[in-house]
Amino acid sequence: MISMIWAMDENWLIGKDNLLPWHYAKDLAYFKKMTQGQSVLMGDMTYQSLKSYYKTKPLPFGKSYVANISDVDYPDAVHVKNIFEFFRHVDEDIFIIGGKTIYELSLPFSKRLYITYVLKAHEGNVYFPKFDLSQYKLIDKKIEEGLIFAVYERKNS
Ligand SMILES: NC(=O)c1ccc[n+]([C@@H]2O[C@H](COP(=O)([O-])OP(=O)(O)OC[C@H]3O[C@@H](n4cnc5c(N)ncnc54)[C@H](OP(=O)(O)O)[C@@H]3O)[C@@H](O)[C@H]2O)c1
Repeated sequence: MISMIWAMDENWLIGKDNLLPWHYAKDLAYFKKMTQGQSVLMGDMTYQSLKSYYKTKPLPFGKSYVANISDVDYPDAVHVKNIFEFFRHVDEDIFIIGGKTIYELSLPFSKRLYITYVLKAHEGNVYFPKFDLSQYKLIDKKIEEGLIFAVYERKNS
C-alpha cells in the first residue's frame, strides 16, 4: 500500500526554507513511530532536510528511496529517477514522506493519508498542494496538545 504522511498548519503550510516551520515533539514521535524501519520515498530536498536534522546519524527508515531527475545518487538511499516508473513497478508498502513536489506527484497513487493538523498559523514558504479531501474517508482521529492526528483512506479503494 502507498501511504502519505505529513504535518500541516491551518493554512496548509508544511515547510520553511527547506526545514519544518515548527518543533512539535509529539508529531516527531508520531512520524518516527509510523515510519521507523519502513520503506519511504522522499524528494531530494526532503532528503537534504532530513540529513541536516540527523547529521551523522543514519536515517531511521528500513529503506530510503530518494527521487531526483538530476541523477544524484546517495550511499544510504535508492535513487528514483522517474517517480511514475517507480509507482508502476513498486510491490512493497511505501510511506511517502515529502516534500511538496513529491506529495503532489504521489497523491493519485496513495491509498492512505496520515495527516497531522497543527492548529495554528506558522510562518514559512512551502504549502501542501490543495486537493479534495472529500475523496477520502476519515478512519482514525486523535487530538493531543494542539495537534490532530488524522488517518484517511481513499473512498474508491
Ligand atoms: N510538514 C511536513 O510534514 C513535511 C514533510 C516533508 C517535507 N516538508 C517540507 O517540504 C519542503 C520540500 O519540498 P520540495 O517540493 O521543495 O522538495 P521535495 O519534494 O522534497 O523534492 C523535490 C525533488 O523531486 C524531484 N522530482 C521532481 N519530479 C520528479 C519526478 N517526476 N521523478 C523523480 N523525481 C522528481 C526533483 O528533482 P531535481 O532536483 O532533479 O529536479 C526535486 O529535487 C521543505 O520545506 C520540507 O521541510 C514538510
